[in-house]
Amino acid sequence: MITVNLPAWAQWLDVPLAPDRLPVRHRVLLGGRGGGKSWTIAHKLVERAIRNPERILCTREYQNSIRDSSKRLIEDVIDRMQLGARGSGFFTVTDKEIRGQNGSRFVFMGLNGKDSAIKSLEGFTLVWVEEAAAVAQASIEALVPTIRRERSEIWWSYNPRYRHDPVDMMFRGGTIQPPGSIVQIVKWSDNPWFPIVLHREMEFDRQRDPEKHMHVWEGQYVERSEARVFHRWKVHAFDEPDDALHRFGADWGFAKDPTVLVRCFIGRWAGEPYNSDIIADQKGDHLFVDDEAYKVGCAIDETPALFAGFDHLRPARWQNGFLHPGITGAASYQITADSARPETIDFMRKRGFNISPAIKGPGSVEDGIAFLKSFDIVVHPRCRHLIDELVLYSWASDRHTGEILNKLSDKNNHVIDALRYALEGARKASRPDFQGYSTGRSIMFDIPGYLPSRWSEVHPDLRAHRSVIGDLFR
Ligand SMILES: Nc1ncnc2c1ncn2[C@@H]1O[C@H](COP(=O)(O)OP(=O)(O)OP(=O)(O)O)[C@@H](O)[C@H]1O
Ligand SMILES: [Mg+2]
Repeated sequence: MITVNLPAWAQWLDVPLAPDRLPVRHRVLLGGRGGGKSWTIAHKLVERAIRNPERILCTREYQNSIRDSSKRLIEDVIDRMQLGARGSGFFTVTDKEIRGQNGSRFVFMGLNGKDSAIKSLEGFTLVWVEEAAAVAQASIEALVPTIRRERSEIWWSYNPRYRHDPVDMMFRGGTIQPPGSIVQIVKWSDNPWFPIVLHREMEFDRQRDPEKHMHVWEGQYVERSEARVFHRWKVHAFDEPDDALHRFGADWGFAKDPTVLVRCFIGRWAGEPYNSDIIADQKGDHLFVDDEAYKVGCAIDETPALFAGFDHLRPARWQNGFLHPGITGAASYQITADSARPETIDFMRKRGFNISPAIKGPGSVEDGIAFLKSFDIVVHPRCRHLIDELVLYSWASDRHTGEILNKLSDKNNHVIDALRYALEGARKASRPDFQGYSTGRSIMFDIPGYLPSRWSEVHPDLRAHRSVIGDLFR
């Protein structure tokens, strides 16, 4: 077995007593991106599983597919410690589980949604709740009392989002924490192996967008959530149907801005939302975003690889020195791209990409955003930058009074712009009447939490204006 160096704070995952002198029940690691939370926890869980026979549940709010669980990370750790098939063989990895020779077992299930773990929670000795900011109160209430083995522990890791997120309320909301809690804030600066690509991204955010920087990297709460543009969206791991019609959109980085490619499709749920299969359907009311490529300071030469990974068809067309994974289909499907850089579009076309410029015009941003907002957006957790942007993208506000203005702020919109371009064709084709959402007025009635396109949910105060809104939103 190889021992791996861990950050100094990893000891908080070992100590037996919490500050209240009770045996540890909850270990909480929270903070901004890249602190090393997930890696360190994965290592410590593997260590525990070697030491004693443990039944370990690795969970999150939603997990439809095992591919999107922490299983991959645990497997990597096992490989690096030479405890798997290519090492001592202590652990055996199967489709759904990882088993140790001493009877230890790792199981991967979501708390909510398809194949939810809630019904089978008993008997676990260790639970890791990853991305816990997204965990619902009901899931916490179902989980905590069922983990009742003597000395069982629950580990929580998350990047704080809103002050009122249930996990944050539980550990940082009041004056008392649950008995036996260790709560540790961990930041990028606490990670000796903070990767250079993340560093570059962080510097970009620090210079261009202090608010985003504070949230994503420094782990602060998102402030002013009332100014947010997007409300109807969720992070959810899903499998795309075979017949999904993938749409691609690209936004080019200027100088140090990120270059982005995003892939999505329109569809609906076969049955209960988030609990059933997804059906590809051009008339569906859901937008599923399943992959993104994102790099700050991406050179033009590097862009084909960022988008498509290695060139499997004709290897001479571009190099992939940075080993970008790319997005499946990027080199063959049509991509709609930011029109501001014709020379980049030209460059990509010469390398075989099927790219056309988006059409810009008065109101095109607002219309594109309104069209996006007409969907319930489901974002795959691997699209981390899109998630940041959906959390942060806001209406502009008056610098002096703080009042929210009828104007979109030009920040946090790189992946969102790419998504807008990706849907340009759909917007024109499937909803020719969509222009009815005229720019200024749609913003006027766009009240957070209320969906003007559905009558049942329009705010009562607005019902009096029904005819006006009816005209606008049909
Ligand atoms: N012990 C380690 N040895 C080497 N590299 C490490 C170690 N721990 C973390 N890293 C590096 O730091 C990166 C960030 O770590 P990790 O993904 O665990 O952070 P995190 O706090 O979970 O961040 P996020 O907010 O993105 O979930 C890893 O991708 C890896 O490159
Ligand atoms: Mg993590």
